[in-house]
Amino acid sequence: MTRRPIDFDSVEIDPDGKFIKIIDQTQLPQKEVFLFLSEENEIAEAISSLRVRGAPAIGIAAAAGLAVVLNCSGSETIEESTRVLERACEKLEFTRPTAVNLRWALQRMRNKFNSLKGEYANNIEKLHKLMTEEATRIKSEDISMSLSIAENGLTLIKEGAKILTYCNAGHLATGRYGTALAPIYLGIEKGLNLKIYSCETRPLLQGARLTTYELQKGGADVTLICDNMAATLMQQGMIDAVFAGCDRVAANGDTANKIGTLSLAILAKYHSVPFYILGPVSTIDPSAEDGSHIVIEERNGKEITEPFPGIKIAPAEVKTYNPAFDITPAELITAIITDKGIFRYPFHFPFRVN
Ligand code: MRU
Repeated sequence: MTRRPIDFDSVEIDPDGKFIKIIDQTQLPQKEVFLFLSEENEIAEAISSLRVRGAPAIGIAAAAGLAVVLNCSGSETIEESTRVLERACEKLEFTRPTAVNLRWALQRMRNKFNSLKGEYANNIEKLHKLMTEEATRIKSEDISMSLSIAENGLTLIKEGAKILTYCNAGHLATGRYGTALAPIYLGIEKGLNLKIYSCETRPLLQGARLTTYELQKGGADVTLICDNMAATLMQQGMIDAVFAGCDRVAANGDTANKIGTLSLAILAKYHSVPFYILGPVSTIDPSAEDGSHIVIEERNGKEITEPFPGIKIAPAEVKTYNPAFDITPAELITAIITDKGIFRYPFHFPFRVN
């Protein structure tokens, strides 16, 4: 792929490692506001309040955030630097509990630090510079993975295909291009005519606000529907396939993704529509035997009653339940499309992951 759908990435890393620059996704599509972050509390806040979101983008923001915190710490000894690293890891690690990429990226940064600290104990500045390079490498690898997912996913898309997508698993959610949306961008670049339906994705409307925004900018033919319209579209033969992202895939293929993904998988099965999950292999968590081992993030109920400041759509005191993700059982998933190939149910991932 040669062209980015939008002319900025969700997470840009200062080459000197002094800040990360993110687009504040809570303000899209109304305003394009960029934030320059260099302090661990503000990076943690940006992740937990979804200013930067999407499993791979969260991993990149956390890894780069860690490097930035180290670079800005003024640490002069290896002991000080180690303390800064551990404190920042602790702060960032539980900002979003479901996406495995966050912990994976922090662990990779920790491992890098530990492998370098002996050699660079007397050159802390260089050590921190190498940590910035590692974070930048995590982002570049994510971009390469998106390109491979795009190539693999495109083999399943025919000219004129009508694809339903959910939440936002695109350019904004990754280093670049996306997972579920990457094959769509590649298809458009190759001249395919594709029709994309984006579900709104309650409660915070990532589909309505972010997926339509970036698909429009990327030149896609995108139509927005409310979440409760998906069944009708499938019943009317308007959908050829569902493409969704993932926050964590268990060893047996059970997949955690944005709440509501499960409903689409059930609908797709009933209507014989192929249901595809797309993500890099770093999203597969071999330590989770099946979906019951995946922690599901529960968020503040205010997101349901007042999804945006001042937009009150229910009595403030009403009881709410707001799980942010659900688990789609492996048997409902036609295939999982990764950077390392396409896997079909029953899933046996042949490579070592994480
Ligand atoms: O809560 P969010 O907006 O971070 O949820 C995002 C999703 O569920 C995406 O589908 C997933 O992270 C994959 S992003 C490539």
